[in-house]
Amino acid sequence: MNKANKFPQPPGPIGIFDSGYGGLTILRQIRSLMPQYDYLYLGDNARAPYGTRSFDIVYEFTLQAVRYLFEQGCHLVILGCNTASAKALRSIQQNDLPQMDPQRRVLGVIRPTVEVVGNISQTRHVGIMATMGTIRSATYELEIAKLHPDIKVTGEACPMWVPLVENDEYDGSGADYFVKKNIDDLLSRDPQIDSVILGCTHYPLLLNKIRKYMPSGVHVIEQGFYVADSLRDYLNRHPEMVKRVTCGGTTCFLTTERAEEFQSKAAAFMNESLTAKRVYLD
Ligand code: DGL
Repeated sequence: MNKANKFPQPPGPIGIFDSGYGGLTILRQIRSLMPQYDYLYLGDNARAPYGTRSFDIVYEFTLQAVRYLFEQGCHLVILGCNTASAKALRSIQQNDLPQMDPQRRVLGVIRPTVEVVGNISQTRHVGIMATMGTIRSATYELEIAKLHPDIKVTGEACPMWVPLVENDEYDGSGADYFVKKNIDDLLSRDPQIDSVILGCTHYPLLLNKIRKYMPSGVHVIEQGFYVADSLRDYLNRHPEMVKRVTCGGTTCFLTTERAEEFQSKAAAFMNESLTAKRVYLD
């Protein structure tokens, strides 16, 4: 696919990509706000987690996924993954999209989350809990500094949280240990924090544990709703993109791992039975 595509391409579903299951928390919110559209979810479960991988690898894997979703007919792809949004989104938007197809769009999850934090924090001390990759990229700090320069940001990498979710251990006692440890570490580094962004789309699955160990005065910011709301706003402002999205109310699921495994875990996250298809990215 390249800009030599002179003819209008038929409309297609909205693509949602994540390294694994985490993007389902974004899909769920987007779909509940805009059930009329078709969605195509792609989880790169065979290569998850992304959070401990280098910039180059996350960029390469994410670009492969975006290219694949474009080939399946998506004109609009949401990176439902903070790590990919932090490490690959800007390069894809600036360098790859103009070559691949300047009419298509790729959006991330960090900006919509950062936009709301200024209205939530009173103390102006905010914590970010995210993967090692997202924390090391300092993307949240940079984006918050642009919009809310008075906010002090403290980041806490939680490298065990995604494996707990991917391996179905988010309700177990191992999760208690790691969730408490990272929350305690974060709040000891800045006791004035009154708002914590869950800067990884896997983390809402650990919400029961997070609420158990987070002091009650600290606001836990889940990004799914804000990402969905921001997408709705984007589509309101871009009627030309709405014309390129099909409206059948369907969702299809693709995974790079065994379809049966994805189906049973994703069904639990989505509260519905579903069918997934295995695909190969390169
Ligand atoms: N769910 C992802 C995120 O929001 C990625 C987690 C991972 O693969 O490490 O960062």
